[in-house]
Amino acid sequence: MNCDLIAPHYQSLEYLTFGKSLERRRFAFLSAAVAARSAILCGGGDGRFLARLLLANPLVRVDFVEASGKMIELAERRIRALGHAFRARVRFEACDLRHFKPRQSNYDLIATHFFLDCFSQSEVSELSQRLASWASPQTQWIVSEFQEAPGVFANLASRVLIRALYAAFRISTGLRITHLPNYEAALAANGFRLQCDEHSFAGLLRSSLWKRVI
Ligand SMILES: C[S@@+](CC[C@H](N)C(=O)[O-])C[C@H]1O[C@@H](n2cnc3c(N)ncnc32)[C@H](O)[C@@H]1O
Repeated sequence: MNCDLIAPHYQSLEYLTFGKSLERRRFAFLSAAVAARSAILCGGGDGRFLARLLLANPLVRVDFVEASGKMIELAERRIRALGHAFRARVRFEACDLRHFKPRQSNYDLIATHFFLDCFSQSEVSELSQRLASWASPQTQWIVSEFQEAPGVFANLASRVLIRALYAAFRISTGLRITHLPNYEAALAANGFRLQCDEHSFAGLLRSSLWKRVI
């Protein structure tokens, strides 16, 4: 998957198709992140969640791991515009999370927004295992994802939309994945327990907050 081509248009395309619905999902559990001191944002895209996190939490330091150089450029520009003190709290890592080697292993916040759906089930299991191995005992994990909505009509509509989104990403980024993975099982298998969740867009969008319990 290479998001360089779509990066400059990513935000406008998102607003055009979903309005501010995805934005609301990303920021849903921001209040749970105010006590974090060391965060890893995975596939953080153009940095909108990053900016909000830094503004909400003046003490957090962030590793921002993103495979697309163009997305990193946009995110870095966004944070530089906030000021030097904000930029100094972020380490931008332009690499594939599957090969990322952290300089620490005590993250107390993990965020994956519309990221886990870029992977197969086995990749999500592997990624969850790696992330858990870098996490503190009480680490919180904030997830935003698409999901198949409940209810006959909504379920059908959501499946069609998810297929269309995967097709669009396949054409524009080369993404090979075609189905949503069961990330809940992967997080649970690695010691994370669901704390709360919120749904919107007739059940198509879900944000959830998980906590590591060991
Ligand atoms: C659908 S976008 C979501 C971006 C952002 N999290 C958001 O909420 O808008 C997925 C992002 O994950 C990045 N990505 C995909 N695979 C990755 C990987 N293996 N390692 C790091 N980043 C990756 C892509 O470059 C892209 O920016």
